[in-house]
Amino acid sequence: MFARRIAVVGSGYVGLTTGACLASLGHRVTCADVDPEKVDRLSAGRVSILEPGLSELVAEGLAAGRLEFVLGASKAVLDAEVVFMCVPTPMGVGGAADLVAVESVISEVRDLLPAGCVVVNKSTVPVGTAERMHQLLNRPDIAVVSNPEFLREGSAVHDFLNPDRIVVGSSAQDAAERVAALYARLGAPTVLTDAPSAELVKYAANCFLAMKLSYVNAIAELSERLGANVADVTEGIGYDRRIGQAFLQPGPGWGGSCLPKDTHALIQAADAVDFDFMLLRATIDTNTRQRQRIVTKIREACGGSLDGVRLGLLGLTFKAGTDDLRDSPALAVAELLRDEGAELTAYDPGVAGAVPGVTDTVRVVDDAYEVAKGAAGLVLLTEWPEFRTLDWARVASLLEGRVVVDTRNHLDPDVLRRAGLSWRGVGMQPVD
Ligand code: UDX
Repeated sequence: MFARRIAVVGSGYVGLTTGACLASLGHRVTCADVDPEKVDRLSAGRVSILEPGLSELVAEGLAAGRLEFVLGASKAVLDAEVVFMCVPTPMGVGGAADLVAVESVISEVRDLLPAGCVVVNKSTVPVGTAERMHQLLNRPDIAVVSNPEFLREGSAVHDFLNPDRIVVGSSAQDAAERVAALYARLGAPTVLTDAPSAELVKYAANCFLAMKLSYVNAIAELSERLGANVADVTEGIGYDRRIGQAFLQPGPGWGGSCLPKDTHALIQAADAVDFDFMLLRATIDTNTRQRQRIVTKIREACGGSLDGVRLGLLGLTFKAGTDDLRDSPALAVAELLRDEGAELTAYDPGVAGAVPGVTDTVRVVDDAYEVAKGAAGLVLLTEWPEFRTLDWARVASLLEGRVVVDTRNHLDPDVLRRAGLSWRGVGMQPVD
């Protein structure tokens, strides 16, 4: 494999993971960011993102001289053979992806790009963006390739180095093959296609995952009403290889920085071409409804009213293994509980101290047992492993009430029952 000179623009979790992993594959990588403090921190090997294995890879790359951090894209691209765009594309007006960062980098580097270099889009961008970037570049010698990432927060390094597939799309086939060759050592199946198809793969994949989760949350509701057990139902359907066991865990709904943004962006893109994506609308509506359903379950478990009721919350992040609170289902549920007059105390291993937009909804403490003190009940909202090994007899002694609503079916109901507690799961029958 040829070691390539690669520039990565944007050092957020996608850019940093991409840069550090490509350096670990033997390429020479220059990562650029607009934040001078961040560039200094990363150049010193200090990684503030909670991603297993990432700081080790960054340290390894720096030590081997295969990874460096510079201020501004202009510096990074000067001798690059491949330039990865990993800048944020947040949700813009009406749900469409905001491409301001992508376009500003293009205009910054347009005249600096070495002849024949390849510009690769790793950011999640609407279908047609690669073509638009090609027009903006107005450099016939520069090819644009779409190469979406499928990294999950909390396992980004693993996902990058053990991909289910590599997707590369461009109107310039040779450029697409050059990009695919960067990953040769990973030995993953590679989809070589055109740019619009590659761009759509990303949205279609994330929206399918969201749909699968909304479906399993709907099946969970049906299981409760029909007296069935969703854990057995999902096990039963998951053995079908066409369905698979993954992503069948019911919960308080899906959230995070990707699925909500990408589902809205695809709806918006479909509307723009007069396609009413009813299935995806229902997926989003089912997710919104799931948060309300969880609140109803908690209210019923607390005797029918939440006004003035003290509740302890276990978990605030959108999933375990991350400190990310963006579009967190746990926070959405907390806000609905607060709106019904509940008094909330919360603990999350990934959240410490005052958090804007959070601490005016819940009192955040740094100990799981503290949230139980004097509370009418506990609500588990994020599936952190440490919650399973709590001393539940101690929790029971601290609680005023005795009910635990486990929105992730994460705990062992029998352990709670032996501690004198009642367990309420999702899609499962109550255990008292
Ligand atoms: C997602 C996609 O998985 C990833 O491929 C893409 O690149 C970025 O978006 P991420 O945002 O890290 O990754 O979250 P993910 O692990 O997919 O979880 C999304 C949401 O679904 C979380 O709120 C999670 O708690 C929830 N979830 C996930 C469930 O409720 N049940 C499950 O079985 C799996």
